[in-house]
Amino acid sequence: MFTHILTPIDGSEASFKALDEAAKLARSFGSKLTILHVVDTRHLLEYEEQEREDLLKKLRVRGAEVLKEAESKVKPFNIIFESTMKEGNPAEVIVETADELKAELIVIGTRGLTGLRKMVLGSTTYKVVEWASCHVLVVK
Ligand SMILES: Nc1ncnc2c1ncn2[C@@H]1O[C@H](COP(=O)(O)OP(=O)(O)OP(=O)(O)O)[C@@H](O)[C@H]1O
Ligand SMILES: [Mg+2]
Repeated sequence: MFTHILTPIDGSEASFKALDEAAKLARSFGSKLTILHVVDTRHLLEYEEQEREDLLKKLRVRGAEVLKEAESKVKPFNIIFESTMKEGNPAEVIVETADELKAELIVIGTRGLTGLRKMVLGSTTYKVVEWASCHVLVVK
């Protein structure tokens, strides 16, 4: 049923919780799992060039660390998985990647790193639910 599952992670506790559910589903359905981190470049244009380069470098390093942690969490599930890092507007990149992979399911956290507690859904998740052409599981 789900040949390919996509889980986007930003390094937040909520995203790791979503990853855990995604790995369990992948194990049950025999699905391939792709873990995606998007380096959020939306606000980089507000900075001077040198500062922008430094910030981008830091964000890439942080992204690689997040993916490494994700890989070590998923390994014990004995599923087929890959991890990938992209850059851009997170919600747009998540939806594009799901389309490219022909993923039938996106498993995503309710909130992430920056959200306000009073908001039920973070803005990335809200947009992904709205734009995705496949099913979206929002993990609470
Ligand atoms: N840069 C990202 N790369 C990959 N996945 C992401 C990224 N940002 C968010 N996500 C995914 O979306 C989920 C919800 O995060 P979201 O960004 O919507 O909430 P937030 O950070 O709390 O609020 P907001 O960004 O709207 O201020 C995360 O748990 C994660 O699964
Ligand atoms: Mg966010």
